[in-house]
Parts: sequence; C-alpha cells; structure tokens
Amino acid sequence: MHEFAPRRGALDPIEIAPVEDIRALQLSRLRWTLAHAYANVPHYRRAFDAKGVRPEDLTSLADLRRFPFTAKADLRANYPFGMFAVPRAEIARVHASSGTTGKPTVVGYTKRDLATWAEMIGRCIRASGGRPGMRLHNAYGYGLFTGGLGYHAGAEAFGLTVVPVSGGMTERQVQLICEFEPDIITVTPSYMLAILDEFRRQGIDPRGTSLRLGIFGAEPWTDAMRAEIEQAFGIHAVDTYGLSEVMGPGVANECVETKDGPTIWEDHFYPEIVDPETGEPLPEGELGELVFTSLTKEAMPVIRYRTRDLTRLLPGTARSMRRMQRVTGRSDDMIIVRGVNVFPTQIEEQILKVKALSPHYQIVLTRDGRLDEMEVLVELAPGASADVAATAAAELAHHVKSVVGVTAKVTVSEPGKVERSQGKARRVVDRRMANVSGSAGG
Ligand code: DLL
Repeated sequence: MHEFAPRRGALDPIEIAPVEDIRALQLSRLRWTLAHAYANVPHYRRAFDAKGVRPEDLTSLADLRRFPFTAKADLRANYPFGMFAVPRAEIARVHASSGTTGKPTVVGYTKRDLATWAEMIGRCIRASGGRPGMRLHNAYGYGLFTGGLGYHAGAEAFGLTVVPVSGGMTERQVQLICEFEPDIITVTPSYMLAILDEFRRQGIDPRGTSLRLGIFGAEPWTDAMRAEIEQAFGIHAVDTYGLSEVMGPGVANECVETKDGPTIWEDHFYPEIVDPETGEPLPEGELGELVFTSLTKEAMPVIRYRTRDLTRLLPGTARSMRRMQRVTGRSDDMIIVRGVNVFPTQIEEQILKVKALSPHYQIVLTRDGRLDEMEVLVELAPGASADVAATAAAELAHHVKSVVGVTAKVTVSEPGKVERSQGKARRVVDRRMANVSGSAGG
C-alpha cells in the first residue's frame, strides 16, 4: 500500500459505495436540483420552458440530455446576482472569475454550500495523502479567485494548520516553507516552478524541505511536468480540478495511490461528456467537452454547465466514483497553426524532453502575410552552458515538428527571461490579429 493512501475506513462511505447506490443518490439529488432551479431562477424557468421540459420529466439519469445547457454567457447575461436561487440575505459569500474581457462571472454560496465546499476540499486533501494535523502552505491566490479561500476553509475544517500565504512574493514563499515546515503545498504548477527557481537562486536544496505532498491545479499541466516537480522537490504531486461556476476547487481530485486522473466527487457533481460542436452526449470513454450539473448547490445550482474543458470519463479505480482524464486543454486554448490543432501542453511535453531547457515556456503566435508563425520561448536550465542553446533549440524544434506536427521557431534565452506566473500561467500570446490590423501587438 502507498505510504500516503488513506485507510478505507477514513473515506466517506459513498466514495467506495456500489455504483448503483451512487446512481440512485444522483437521481434523487438531480430531481431536487432541477425543481429548485426551475422554481427559483427565472433564467432556468425560461430555458426549460423554451425546450418544453419540466423538472418532473426527469425520471432517469439518461433524461438529463433533454434539459438545456448553461454557458458562461448565461452567467454574464444575468450579472451580477441573477443566477442566484435563494434570497440575497442567504448568500454568505460571493466569488468571481477574473474576467479579463468584460464582466466577471459571479458565483454565490449559502452557509450550507460553504460547508459542502469545505467538506469536498477535505476529501481532496485526504485523497492527496493529507491527514489531520499536517501543516499546509496555501499559495493559491486569496480574494475573488476561488483557489485561495476555497482551499483555506477546507483545509481548516479538515484539521490542518493552514498558512495563508496567497500567491506572489516568491522570496517569502521560500522563507516560509523553510521556517514553518509545511507537509503540503497547494499552488498552481506553474507558480511551483517559480518557487523552485527561487530555492535554487538562494542556494537551498528543494529536496531538503519538509514538504511531502503537492496539490496542483487551476491550469493544465502534464505528466512530464509532474515528474519534473516530484523529482525536484522529492514530493508526491497530485492534480486537483475545479471551476468557479460549479463550486471552485474541490470538484475532482487525484488519489495519491494511483495518480491516474482526478476522481470526480460524483455525489455532488454529475458529469457528462458532449461533442463540443453538436452538444450531443458522447459514450463513456470518448474525448469531448466536460459538462457538469450540480447536485446539492443551494445558492447557485448549475444545470449542464459547459466547462469548455476537453477530457474523457474513465471508470473508478481507487474509488467507485468515475475519474476524468487530466485536462490537458480547453477548447478555447486550442491554437490552430497552419491547419494543425495544437494545445500548449503538447509543447510542454516536448520541452521537458530536452535536458538543457527549463520548464518555463510561452508560445507567441504571429502572422506573416497569410501564414501563421509559432514561436516557442524557452530558457536554458539553470547551470546549462550558453553553448548548448543552439543545439537545445534545434532539438526542441525537431520534437515539436515530429511529434506535434508543426514547424516552430524556438528561441532559447538565458534563465529568467520568460514571463513568470504567480497563479495561472499565460501560455499563449496571440499577436496574429494585431499584425493584420497593423496595430502594435501586445
Ligand atoms: O481554477 C478553481 C481551482 C482553484 C481549481 C485551485 C484547482 C485549484 P476558475 O478560475 O474558475 O477556477 O478556472 C476554472 O481552470 O475550467 C479549467 O480550464 C482550469 N483548471 C482548473 N483546474 C485544472 C486542472 C479554478 N487541474 C478552469 N487541470 C477550468 C487543468 C484546470 N485545468
């Protein structure tokens, strides 16, 4: 048995219940959710009526496909509080997405929703190998983003000592890790790499810290990146998945004993995979867009929410609940370069194959006439000699061409030149439109 795997007796019984019991619970909770949304949210009443469906029409889980989807645009159209299903006075907290373009999307929680959320985060921490009494360094951003406060409240309720660091001030992250001796770190994988650089800059061995577990999410990352982080820090790295509209972090989490994709906490979130173009539900196991219906949310039930995340549903392994393949891309992150579909994580995998390169990267797209150009900005690994830059660039360009199928210009700079993230990394800078209109890119 894995040294960090929880005892079966420590799990919530539903995590390892027979699948039929989970389906029965989902059906009754789904009926409650549909009735609650229809009765209390004008948007859902209109959307159900337009499709000619009533909550009572759901008599089996398969009937869910008859109900309308919900998209981010619906949340924006009902900004800020129009999707709430309870009186405003019962909303204990709101969060919001960053909203880089236009209005942010706002989400709300009743006290009971916050308790459920905390419970799900506790489940994630336990699945990751955490135990009550451990210390957790929380470097997810605090504030409107759900990562920081979501993990904070859940970790406290689970019985951990929480260090609420938030993102940024990387020198201090290193100091606090060394001095407060946490067992667990929660942070985006890209910011973990920035913390790694800072350890090296200060000449401190990252393998010598008290850290044993890392719970990484909020952005796509690969198994190659997992291996890099686990090696560098001597920890177990697991994937944690969630999104604000569905709750925040805590929707799905990998089990440390299997590390085979996040287990979806199916007693609270009902997953479907649909064809991103047609919206038709796809058979289990096929790759498509992940769609979630909340099963217990009071303040803001979501019906068939289109996540834009591409993945597939897999059978349970360490738990009875289904897993999702790790999300390696969103439909809106996909770049089409000269007709070839490319996800940033495919480039990440190739970069990690080249020993002389560090895992920081950014992809810049430009347009020369009618042709798209893709440039991959990377850095030499700390300690690698500048003499190997040209060879490393050629090696990466070769891997990208032969494995991903696109021609990329590779620019290898000295360490520290590629933009660093303190939360979610910006992997793609698209200057194609800027070039067409003749305005300055940026
Ligand atoms: O990122 C919630 C979260 C916080 C998850 C901390 C995990 C840890 P949003 O800001 O609403 O919420 O962004 C949600 O981020 O639809 C995915 O595209 C992406 N994402 C989240 N977790 C993962 C992951 C939080 N483990 C969006 N792998 C989602 C890949 C992820 N992508």
